[in-house]
Amino acid sequence: MKIQKVAVIGSGTMGNGIAHVFAQYGYDVHLIDINEQALQKALQTISKNMDRQIAKNILTEQDKQQALNRIKTFTNIDNAVTDRDLIVEAATENPTIKLDIFKKIDALAPEHCILASNTSSISITKIAAVTKRPDKVIGMHFMNPVPMMKLVEIINGFKTSSTTNQVITETAKALQKVPVTVNDFPGFVSNKVLMPLINEAIYTLYEGIAGVEEIDTIMKLGMAHPMGPLQLADFIGLDVCLYIMRVLYEGYGNPKYAPCPLLVKMVDSGNLGVKSGMGFYDYSNKDSKELIVAPQFRKHNPVVV
Ligand SMILES: NC(=O)c1ccc[n+]([C@@H]2O[C@H](COP(=O)([O-])OP(=O)(O)OC[C@H]3O[C@@H](n4cnc5c(N)ncnc54)[C@H](O)[C@@H]3O)[C@@H](O)[C@H]2O)c1
Repeated sequence: MKIQKVAVIGSGTMGNGIAHVFAQYGYDVHLIDINEQALQKALQTISKNMDRQIAKNILTEQDKQQALNRIKTFTNIDNAVTDRDLIVEAATENPTIKLDIFKKIDALAPEHCILASNTSSISITKIAAVTKRPDKVIGMHFMNPVPMMKLVEIINGFKTSSTTNQVITETAKALQKVPVTVNDFPGFVSNKVLMPLINEAIYTLYEGIAGVEEIDTIMKLGMAHPMGPLQLADFIGLDVCLYIMRVLYEGYGNPKYAPCPLLVKMVDSGNLGVKSGMGFYDYSNKDSKELIVAPQFRKHNPVVV
């Protein structure tokens, strides 16, 4: 089966990027969100990001107009998925919301349609189980920012068929991405490896072994990471990091995944990273190009007596 008509559910950070790449590579896209403002913002973001691609000679102005013309927006799922070949769900990371969406799209979408989720942490097997087509449910985990990042982590649920996997692998390649298939276990591969690294960096700070800048500098310059783990945690959102650590802790029942008490305390305080203006770094001055350590972490004594 060749995918031609796609629906993307959720037009936030990930949904707009997913709609962007599908439209860029010639797919007909229905972009759906319950929030009209989120849809308008998504179209603006896509347009702005395509301008960046024009500046880099990746797209022409004509390519951009054609791509934008391929995207139609909807605030209601009912009329938006009945003729689709593939639906990629990228709504808020909340199991109740996602299970409701999958029940609904399973009832509305044509029989051949593949239902994919961009979830970072919810079991694909569990999502598939609320549908009557678990063989056609799969994880299609794009990375942020979608137009730039090459990886698509493809997650096979317990009942995902090899045909579904093949179609999604080919589709990811058609978007000029590199698909990598993994099995459905908590955190998949990406977050099972990344989140404990971030949690360990937070433990290292909590234990007073080093300060924020020292930890991030060691990982950047010593391990060639493009960004330190504490800055990355601020970008992802500390609430998201905590949520995923809890999924790993509960899913594997192993104390090595226990979230660091400092991470829990920061989330309790409302310091969630970039989105709240404060995390391990201080983002309150939007004009500042410099990274400023948050007030709570400015006094680090490197010599522990
Ligand atoms: N942000 C990331 O870096 C990232 C990376 C990989 C995967 N993900 C995953 O992608 C998904 C989306 O994350 P995001 O960061 O784009 O979230 P977001 O909060 O930016 O956007 C979510 C959007 O979903 C919409 N929505 C909520 N309920 C809906 C419904 N019933 N129908 C239609 N739309 C609905 C919201 O209005 C919102 O616009 C999540 O599953 C998340 O785990 C996020």
